[in-house]
Amino acid sequence: MTKKKITAIYPGSFDPVTNGHIDIIKRSIKIFSRVIPAILVNPEKKPLFSIEERLEMLRDACKELKDVEPVFFDGLLVEAAKKYDASVVIRGIRAVSDYEYELQMALMNRSLHEELETLFLVPAQEYSFLSSRLVKDVYRAGGNIKNFVTPFVAEKLKEKFNL
Ligand code: PNS
Repeated sequence: MTKKKITAIYPGSFDPVTNGHIDIIKRSIKIFSRVIPAILVNPEKKPLFSIEERLEMLRDACKELKDVEPVFFDGLLVEAAKKYDASVVIRGIRAVSDYEYELQMALMNRSLHEELETLFLVPAQEYSFLSSRLVKDVYRAGGNIKNFVTPFVAEKLKEKFNL
């Protein structure tokens, strides 16, 4: 595939980054010349990990991926897109239930920044049920999460929950 000389931003809470997120990042970098996975603040969520911890995990997950540059941005997604010269927003869609919220966000972002396009990517089927929330729930209840996160994230969960 010929890559577009376009920067794409991939925003999210990443609390923590999962293999589903990494799958989307890998798909995105096949299409775009630069991908910025960006930790942004979702006021609806109370994160388990600090911003520094989330960024450390995201950086570790992306360390072998060329032209992938994780960041934290405190503010609107449209402003982050401007700062990093991104003209495309990537969001992963797992199920129809994700769509309504994603559509609202995409249209709001477009109303704030007309030139910014939102692109929905579908993760590998094995990650279609995966979310950061479920990973935390399963781990907290003593379940095995090794197929869902990197070893580094698994270690950080262990430290966080003292398990
Ligand atoms: O992983 P999440 O929690 O679904 O990601 C949501 C996120 C962080 C991308 C969204 O809350 C966001 O864009 N926050 C930044 C502030 C903003 O631009 N809000 C308006 C969105 S329409």
